[in-house]
Amino acid sequence: MKRLCLVCQNVDCKSRGSEQLMKELAKLVAERALTDVEVRPYICFGACQDGPNIVLYPEKSWYAGVKTEDLKDIADRLAGGPDVKRLDKIDSSLKELIYQLLDTGVF
Ligand code: FES
Repeated sequence: MKRLCLVCQNVDCKSRGSEQLMKELAKLVAERALTDVEVRPYICFGACQDGPNIVLYPEKSWYAGVKTEDLKDIADRLAGGPDVKRLDKIDSSLKELIYQLLDTGVF
């Protein structure tokens, strides 16, 4: 299975630019030839006020309030670089809930 970079595309995240973020991230992933990574839309992570939200799976890294200038660091992370800890802002109980859902194979 490919590694996933899930970009929320529901109303709140979209109103903060997540559609453009997803496009730019897909471009960075392609530029780095990360063929095992798929950038994919996600319906909603339930942290709408903290968006745009991006979750890497199976890494289980959750990045909130992502801005265009953060995308390079996220792409570096996908290429094996360090976690982008400054964007790790979500409550751990919500993170666990979503990670459990992803573990069941629901995308
Ligand atoms: S709208 Fe993106 S987390 Fe809900």
